[in-house]
Formats: sequence, structure tokens, C-alpha cells
Amino acid sequence: MKFFLDTANIDEIRQGVAWGLVDGVTTNPSLVAKEGVGFHDRIKEICALVNGSVSAEVTATDYEGMIKEGHVLAKLHDNVTVKVPLIPDGIRACRTLSQEGIKVNVTLCFSPSQALLAAKSGATFISPFVGRLDDISQDGMQLVGEIVKIYKNYGFPTQVLAASLRHPQHVVQSALAGAHVGTMPFSVLKMLFNHPLTDIGLKKFLADWDKVKDQVLKK
Ligand code: G3P
Repeated sequence: MKFFLDTANIDEIRQGVAWGLVDGVTTNPSLVAKEGVGFHDRIKEICALVNGSVSAEVTATDYEGMIKEGHVLAKLHDNVTVKVPLIPDGIRACRTLSQEGIKVNVTLCFSPSQALLAAKSGATFISPFVGRLDDISQDGMQLVGEIVKIYKNYGFPTQVLAASLRHPQHVVQSALAGAHVGTMPFSVLKMLFNHPLTDIGLKKFLADWDKVKDQVLKK
């Protein structure tokens, strides 16, 4: 499974890239707004750091506006994937942009029927929002599994990009469900490292080494 970082924060992306764990980045208007920087400049900055897909979302909600914005975003860098919302005009824009060879991520997906529309329209990625479904007492992970199955049944090339992942179990369950990509906040990526037995084990190894290191190194 590919790991994407769901952030527009440059320091977080730099750290993830230094670990060699970032296959791409997803942003949305809320994440960019949080950074208080120019949208296009930030997307270019991210693209220069990351060797993979960088999702940049349109803010228009009509077909013509999405196409116009999509063209501008796609010209910023080869790594840009244009993100469109799962509404009728977004699905129409997905088809047009995809036919032009522009990569499209269809976002705000909450049902398998919506995911079918995106795949039929040539989307590169579909983004089911796991955490937000869990928030309203539905099973976000079940949706990921159903989309993976439906796409496999028909050989759709659209990649399932599990989004709105809030904790390490969401990442593990997405992998078990066969999602092609999991996009996560930096805090979740960091949590994937954690296990108390790793810390305890390392502490013990170093303590044992400390007791004998002078003798061992002399030999
Ligand atoms: O990738 C989608 C993500 O940004 C939404 O996450 O936690 O706001 O539901 P969240």
C-alpha cells in the first residue's frame, strides 16, 4: 500500500520524505487554509519535495469552473493530481480532465455507488472518507472493502485511496481491505512506529551493552 501524507505542512512532508515513507501528498482547501500561505506556491513547493502524486483540490462547484481551475493546477507541476468533489459536475469534470491525460482524485466519497461513478468516469483515485463515516456511526472501513471488491470485479484501474484515516488501526485495516493508498496526517504516520516492547527491548539491549562494552570493544 502506498502512503500519502494528508497535509500542506512543509516541515511534516520534509520529515516523512527523509524517512523514505512518503509516496504522495493529499491536500484540501481546509489544510491549505491552515498554513496561511499562497495555494499555488505551496503546491509547487510540495511537488518539488515529493516524487509522487500531489492532490490539489478545485474550489469551483460548476463544470466550467472546475475545468478552468483543473487546467491551471495541472500546469503547476507534472506531479499534480486534480481533486474534484463527488457531485454531478465533479464527475463530468473528472471524465473531461482524465480524457485529457490529467490525473484526477475524486474526493468526498461516502458510498459504493458514488465510487462506481468515479471509476466509470476514469478517475485515477477515489477517496472514501473513513473517519467521517465512523463519526456518524457508520462503518467507514466496510466502504473501503466494498469499493476494492467492486473495482476488482470489473477490472477498474481506479485506485482506492483510503482517506480521513485518524489512527494506526485505520491504516492497518485499509491495508487488509486492499486499499491501494492510505492518506494520513503526519501524526498518524508517526504513530505507526510506536510499540512499547520496541522501547523496552532497545533499553535493555543498550543497558546490557553498556555493562560490557569496554571489554568487547578492546578485543
Ligand atoms: O483526506 C481527507 C481528510 O483530509 C479528511 O480528514 O480527519 O478531516 O475527516 P478528516
